[in-house]
Amino acid sequence: MKNLFSMKDLTTEEIYKLLKTAESFAKGECWTPEEQTFAVNLFFEPSTRTKTSFEMAERKLGIEVIPFEAGASSILKGETMEDTLRTLESIGVDLAVIRHKQDAFYEDLAGKFNMRIINGGDGCGQHPTQSLLDLLTIKQEFGKFEGLKVTIVGDLSHSRVARSNTEALTTLGAEVYYSGPPEWFEGDAANSEYYVDIDEAISFSDVLMLLRIQHERHDSTMDHSAEHYHERYGLTVERENKMKPSGIIMHPGPVNRGVEIADSLVDSGKSRIFKQMENGVYARMAVLKHLLEK
Ligand code: CP
Repeated sequence: MKNLFSMKDLTTEEIYKLLKTAESFAKGECWTPEEQTFAVNLFFEPSTRTKTSFEMAERKLGIEVIPFEAGASSILKGETMEDTLRTLESIGVDLAVIRHKQDAFYEDLAGKFNMRIINGGDGCGQHPTQSLLDLLTIKQEFGKFEGLKVTIVGDLSHSRVARSNTEALTTLGAEVYYSGPPEWFEGDAANSEYYVDIDEAISFSDVLMLLRIQHERHDSTMDHSAEHYHERYGLTVERENKMKPSGIIMHPGPVNRGVEIADSLVDSGKSRIFKQMENGVYARMAVLKHLLEK
C-alpha cells in the first residue's frame, strides 16, 4: 500500500489488517518508523477532527509534522497542487495528507510522487480514514459486520462519508440502508428497497449513522429549515426511545445540534460520537504505519 485515496483501494484483507493494527494502538502498542520521517497536512477545506487527529497520530508515531497553512501558502499566488507537492517532496517531506473540495483530486497525482499521499476528504467523493474509524467503532461495539443493519441518514448526495462507508460496509457483509430527504437520495427513493423512512429505520437499525447537512454544498432550493428537518428526518428524543436496546448512534461531526440529532442525545448512552473521534487517532496511526513500514 503506497497511498490511500479511496476505500476502493483496500481489499477486505487490508481493511481487517488496518482495523487490527488500530485496535493494537488503542490498547497502547507503540511503533515508530525506522528512519526520521516528515509529514505535512494540507487542508484546503475546513477541518477540526481530521486535521488534528492526523497530527496527533503523526506525533504519537514520532513523525515530524511540518506546519502548512493553505491560506498562507503560495497556492494563493497560483501555484498548483502538483507543484506544491513537488516542492514539499523536494525539501524532504515523506508523507502528505490532503483535503480538497475537488472530487477525486488525487487522480491527477497518482503515480507522480514517491512520497505517500493520504486523502483526508475530497469534495463529495471519499473520506477513507473516516470510514476506517467508523468501522473500528462498529467492530468494537458488535465484534462483526456480517448481518448488521446500518442506516445512513441525511445529506447522502453530498456525503463522502456515506460513499466511503457504503462501499466498506457492504464489502464486509453489513446491510446498508438510507434515510433522510428523498431528494438527497441518489436514485428513486420511492421504489428503492434501500431507502427507508426514519421511523422505520429506527425500529431495525443496529447503527444509525447520521450525516451533517452540508449547507456549503447546497443551493437555496435544497435547504430545509432546521426545525422541519429535525422533526421530519432527525433523531429526536422520541425516536431515540424507540431504537433497539443494542442500537448505537454515530455521526462523523461536526454536528448541527438540534438538526440531525437532538442536543441532549449527542453525548447520550447510545451515542458513540466522541468514541469515533478517539478512534480517529488509532485508525490514522494504523494507516500511517501501513504506508510507512518497509
Ligand atoms: N469528520 C470530519 O471529517 O470532521 P472534520 O471536517 O472536522 O475534519
